[in-house]
Amino acid sequence: MKISSKSMEKAICFMVFSFLLLPANTLVESHQEGYISGVLSEKGLDFAKDLLIEKAVSSMVPLHLPDIEKSVKIPLIGKVHLGLSDIVIYSVDFPSSSVETGDSGIVLIASGATANLRMKWKYSYKNWVITISDHGTATVEVLGMEVGLNAAIINEEGTLKLLLLEHGCHVKDISINVDGGASWLYQGIIDAFQGKIVSSVEDAIAKNIQKGITKLDAKLQSIPKQLHVNSVVALNVTFMDDPLLTNSSVELEINGLFNGANEISVSNYYRKRSHNFLSGNGLAKMVEISLHEKVFESATSVYFNGDYMHWTVDEIPESLMNTDGWRNIIPQLYEKYPDDDMNLHMTVTSPPIIQVADHDINTAIYADLIFKVLNSDEVVPVACVSLVINASCSAEIHRNNLAGSIRLIDFTASLAWSNIGDLHMQLVQAEISTILKTFFMPYLNLHLRDGFPLPVPHGFTLQNAEIIQLDSRVIVHSDLSYADRHDLLTRYQFISSGLNA
Ligand SMILES: *[C@@H]1O[C@H](CO)[C@@H](O)[C@H](O)[C@H]1NC(C)=O
Ligand SMILES: *[C@@H]1O[C@H](CO)[C@@H](O)[C@H](O)[C@H]1NC(C)=O
Ligand SMILES: *[C@@H]1O[C@H](CO)[C@@H](O)[C@H](O)[C@H]1NC(C)=O
Repeated sequence: MKISSKSMEKAICFMVFSFLLLPANTLVESHQEGYISGVLSEKGLDFAKDLLIEKAVSSMVPLHLPDIEKSVKIPLIGKVHLGLSDIVIYSVDFPSSSVETGDSGIVLIASGATANLRMKWKYSYKNWVITISDHGTATVEVLGMEVGLNAAIINEEGTLKLLLLEHGCHVKDISINVDGGASWLYQGIIDAFQGKIVSSVEDAIAKNIQKGITKLDAKLQSIPKQLHVNSVVALNVTFMDDPLLTNSSVELEINGLFNGANEISVSNYYRKRSHNFLSGNGLAKMVEISLHEKVFESATSVYFNGDYMHWTVDEIPESLMNTDGWRNIIPQLYEKYPDDDMNLHMTVTSPPIIQVADHDINTAIYADLIFKVLNSDEVVPVACVSLVINASCSAEIHRNNLAGSIRLIDFTASLAWSNIGDLHMQLVQAEISTILKTFFMPYLNLHLRDGFPLPVPHGFTLQNAEIIQLDSRVIVHSDLSYADRHDLLTRYQFISSGLNA
């Protein structure tokens, strides 16, 4: 089998979905739930199956079969030697196929498949008087072929392992057309090879399935356990537990928490899989990706612990950058430092709290706003106001990224300490509101706009995604498209037509 194309490799991670099994005995064990789960619905399974077959075909043809030699005894003539060579399957078509999930794994069956072969034949007959030989070509049509496989996937230390339980190919009927030479004479002889050709085709296809599964398994095992998002955070995509197969869907769980790009685990949580909150059966879209609110909190806590959550405030009205602008709001500030430039510094003081409610993602950010004065080359902190900022996020999908935008709901401000006496907090609050609206919220939005990539296998793009929020989770329902699908079809047609010519 030729799995040379890049697109084949890209698709492999996804194909895993079409081969999932939960061995029956593990059903009774307790489950480890991840913070991100994915469900492939019936529609998604069908999509995966079609793509898999398409790829299997394109990587299989042209398929060369071993030469066949045979001696036949023919009445009146005697013994003749016949050889078939350059036997090539140059096209295969699977008009109908089905995929089923259940306790015995995933069963994929393609029936009524057809294939076309070309080959060369030669004939020789020799007795003590004469030598007769002839040669030509023949085409073979394979009809009513059944191909099936039953595969299982298990979780082995956070990686998925693919097991081929059963597979096979059965050819019901073939028809051979001989051209060249005195073909009318040899048709009957070549027909005697039917049985050998049939078993050769069956063997070749069965071997191909086996090789394909071995390669797929190797690819699966090479999927990294960390998805690097940027230089700061990585998403832990370690598989938790065995995949769960329901009647018509497949459910996968990954750890799903962010950790520092270069550090070891922030936290591991193991919980019982409480209920099948996912709705693979009735799902109108191909996939469901569900993210627990802890996923978002783990991301912000990496940034917080990595000391990234403090900023020098800029992009605010010029007047707020000089004590003069605060003259009426904090008179003591101006008295002590008349007409001095100012620095404002914002520091988040604890990891932000994120709660996914039914219609909103609520965020509470605890931060200190520190007022500093630039007094004769010295930066003098003069006061600190503690803020509790409540904001509401909405989630969006940009390509394969889960992005968002944030909106200020309200905030409270209280004086933490001051070297410039008491502040009139009501007046200060109005200015802080300006700072949040002109600096902080736009800053957060700039970063949230990019979001982070959802763990979607390479080469696939979410299509018509919808987001719902439920039960502390952000749930993405989406169809998928496969980027290289067009290329693949073109290449396949090119190969087949090249051979036909
Ligand atoms: C499985 O699917 C079949 C037919 O689609 C249905 O009759 C049956 O009730 C389903 N079983 C479960 C356990 O969902
Ligand atoms: C990733 O998740 C797995 C499973 O929960 C855990 O064992 C592992 O320590 C985590 N790795 C990191 C780097 O957090
Ligand atoms: C802000 O959020 C916190 C935590 O969710 C909540 O306890 C508090 O009531 C909220 N405050 C306002 C003013 O909405």
